Formats: sequence, C-alpha cells, structure tokens
Amino acid sequence: MAMSQAAYKAEQLIGHDTNSVTAQDVTNPANDPAWADDRDTMKALAWMGKNKVQVVEVPRPKVIEDRDVILKVTGSTVCGSDRHLLHGTVVELQKGDILGHEFCGVVDEMGAAVTGLKKGDRVVASFQIACGDCYYCKNKLSSQCEKTNSNTIENAMYGGRTAGMFGYSHFTGGFAGGQAEYVRVPCGDTNLLKLPDDVPDEKGLYLSDVLATSWNAVVDTGVYEGDVVAIWGAGPIGVMALDFAFLQGAKRVIAIDGVAWRLDFIKERYPRAETLDFTKLKKGESVSSKLKEMGDGRGPDVALECAAGEYAKGWAHYFEMMLGAETDTSELVNEMITSVRNFGRCGITGVYVGFTNHFNIGSLMERGIRLIGNGQAPVHLYWEKLLAMIQEGKIDPLKMVTHRVDLADIEKVYALFDAQDDGMQKVFVQTRFSAPPCAGSPPLKRY
Ligand SMILES: NC(=O)c1ccc[n+]([C@@H]2O[C@H](COP(=O)([O-])OP(=O)(O)OC[C@H]3O[C@@H](n4cnc5c(N)ncnc54)[C@H](O)[C@@H]3O)[C@@H](O)[C@H]2O)c1
Ligand SMILES: [Zn+2]
Ligand SMILES: [Zn+2]
Repeated sequence: MAMSQAAYKAEQLIGHDTNSVTAQDVTNPANDPAWADDRDTMKALAWMGKNKVQVVEVPRPKVIEDRDVILKVTGSTVCGSDRHLLHGTVVELQKGDILGHEFCGVVDEMGAAVTGLKKGDRVVASFQIACGDCYYCKNKLSSQCEKTNSNTIENAMYGGRTAGMFGYSHFTGGFAGGQAEYVRVPCGDTNLLKLPDDVPDEKGLYLSDVLATSWNAVVDTGVYEGDVVAIWGAGPIGVMALDFAFLQGAKRVIAIDGVAWRLDFIKERYPRAETLDFTKLKKGESVSSKLKEMGDGRGPDVALECAAGEYAKGWAHYFEMMLGAETDTSELVNEMITSVRNFGRCGITGVYVGFTNHFNIGSLMERGIRLIGNGQAPVHLYWEKLLAMIQEGKIDPLKMVTHRVDLADIEKVYALFDAQDDGMQKVFVQTRFSAPPCAGSPPLKRY
C-alpha cells in the first residue's frame, strides 16, 4: 500500500479528535447513500493512486448539515498543490477522493441554517473551510480554523492543525473538492463570497486561493517601498507574488526558476521583472552568488519561496527523500537564507510537509535572517480587499491564465500542468454550467 493510503489507515486506527463542527471524510458522495442526491449525476476528478487521477461519474452531493450549500460549479482550476496531492506527497488520500480546492459557482441548494445567500447567487469559495466563530476565525485567520479538521496525526506531528480544506486529503479533514460539476460547501454561510456583476468567474475564481496566497506571501513576509525581492518559483503563485511585490513598492523583483518558458512568460508580461534560470548557471556559480552579483553584493532584502519542498535539486536530497530520511529538501530554503542580505526576510509559501536535513541554521542565526512560515494562506483575511482591487483594475488575474479547458479533459490537464508542458501556467476549467468566456479569457482548448 502506498504511503499516502497507509497514513490514512493509521489515522483510522488512532481515531479522529472530536473538535470538528462538520463531518469528516466526506470525500465522494458515492461513498455513502446518505451523502448522494439521486436527482442528478456529475463528472468529478478523483485521485486514483500515486500519479493517477480519473474523471468519474458519481451522484451529485446532498445537503447533509444545516449550514451546507450545494453549488453548481461554473469554474475551477489546477493548483501547484494538486501536484503534491497527485504525487502522494501530501499524505492521507484515498482512492476515489474528489480533488479541487479552487472553485466558483452558483448556489443551487442550501441547508436550513444558511443565511445571507439565495439560490442563484454567484459565489467563490475559499479553499479552506472555516467555522466562522473559533479563536482564529474571529481574527479572520481562517486557514487555521480549529473546528473543521479533526485529524489526529496532523495535530501530533505539527503541534496544532490547519483548517479543513476542499479536495486536500484526509490530513485536512477529508472534503470532496470542486473539480466537479457540483460541490458541497460545509459552513457555506462563511466560506462563500458573492461575486459582483462586474467581476466575471474568470477573475473571481482566483480569490479562492492563488490571489490570497500570493498576497499573503508578500505582506506576511513583508515587502516594503524600495525593497529588492527574489522569488523562487515562476508558477502561478510566484507570478502573482511578483505582481504584488511591485504593487507594494519593490524596486526590483527577480524571479528564479529552471523552466525557461515560465521565465519568458514573466518577462513578456512584466518587463520590469528580472529573471534567473538556475539551469544556466556557470561552473562555480550558485543562485546565491548570482543574486549577490546582480545586486550590490549584499543580496536581496526579501526572499519568497513559491516552489515547494518536494523538488530536490541535487542527488543527496533526492535519495534522502526517496529513502524516507527526510520529507522535504532544505536546498531552496538554504539558498534563500544565504542569498538575502544580513537581517533579510525569507517567507515560505510553497508547500513543505514534514522534516528536512542539512538546514543552514548557522547562517540563519549568525546573520540574523528572519525565516517566516507563511502558512496556508488565510483567505478570509484578504478576499474582500482583493476583490475590490480587481474591481478597481489594480489586479488582473487573467494575466497568469494561459488556458481555458473543459472538465472532461482534466486528466490530461493534470499531466500537462505537472510536466510544465504546453505553456500551461494557470488554467480555467469550465463545466456544463459555465457562462461563455468573458472578454480577455483564452479560448477553449480541448485535449
Ligand atoms: N501556502 C498556501 O496557502 C499555498 C496555496 C497555494 C499553493 N501553495 C503552494 O505554492 C507552491 C507554488 O504553487 P504554484 O501553483 O505556483 O505551483 P507550480 O508547481 O506551478 O510552480 C512551482 C514552480 O517552482 C519551480 N521550481 C521547482 N524547483 C525550483 C527551485 N529549486 N528553484 C526555483 N524554482 C523551482 C517549478 O519549476 C515551477 O515553475 C506549491 O508548493 C503550492 O502547493 C501554497
Ligand atoms: Zn492551491
Ligand atoms: Zn473556526
């Protein structure tokens, strides 16, 4: 049995905690007749084992709790985090679990206790499920809600838990995701934001995760007027973090990646940005030495990690990870630490799962580096402000969107996005309920 599934078996043996206000492990309506509404079936993308996902036809979900909202999904996407789920790096997935944590849709049905919404409302969901009234929710730190995830292993391993998340394994509660035609949103009165008429789905969708996450990377780490910022990873999160770093007044922003077309994508859309392709470094050069050379010799003020801990650069970490001697490489974080100026700030937004070896704690301590875990981003803290910024034209999420695809083709889209092929940066996944493409949206591409 693969590691991901074995971890869930262990969780079942230990048993969940009792803190959650919403049912756990509701990852597919086909798994229990009480969760299924036989009036309609739906297409949904299910995890079927390491590196395998499949579109399945299952019953549409039913209201099972008073605060549930059932959405007709009109848009979803694939996130860098879905790559970690696909690979089994984020543990505790079970075969048949429906994925997708970024989605928007139209309210179709509601439980008796839902207030503030009505059938037909166009809404976007936050990727985390917040209860709305615990300590963290009262402070809008929704990603750390204490009442929607009762996973015992996460609590023991981390010394605390994150909130429940859609389509993000049983490690975060076990909730069916929105890469589907319908989705059930627990605590729907709290986790849905109405989209105004001047914000089409193709822009509003990204409030679910990528916009809030990139914004959080920038403001939580701290980017100020005149800063030099280096960003590891030129995927969707890195691109929007670059956009936001400039918005916050950064003097220079340098994007680092090993995929040349992604760096070209940035240069084309953000002529002010600078890029560093680490595969083109000369003998004796490192990312750190190059960044110092590109500046005043001291290094950037800020480093943002928008890549992930599972992507080892060298053989040593590759083997350590393969052998289970560590879960995440320290190479990127060490690069950030040795790159920034003394007392510089480093923020980690890319996903890290567990433990790492060979961490350069000496440089961190001696040079006064501030290393910040940005956390799963608290969407509720930012989404209203970010929505207003879209309306004011300060942000254009379509800048990172390269493809419009159909849910029926999403297996192939996962493979292409994972392989960084076909120039695929960020996708908009349409369903049978989607409106025609808005102005500026890429045309539909079928696979
Ligand atoms: N904290 C949160 O709330 C949150 C939310 C969403 C996504 N994420 C995470 O953010 C990360 C980025 O997401 P994305 O959607 O942009 O993913 P992505 O996989 O499309 O992009 C990651 C990029 O990092 C690059 N990369 C890999 N190794 C690198 C290295 N050594 N140096 C520099 N670049 C390297 C890859 O080539 C790729 O272009 C993922 O780990 C994702 O899970 C975190
Ligand atoms: Zn995500
Ligand atoms: Zn809460």
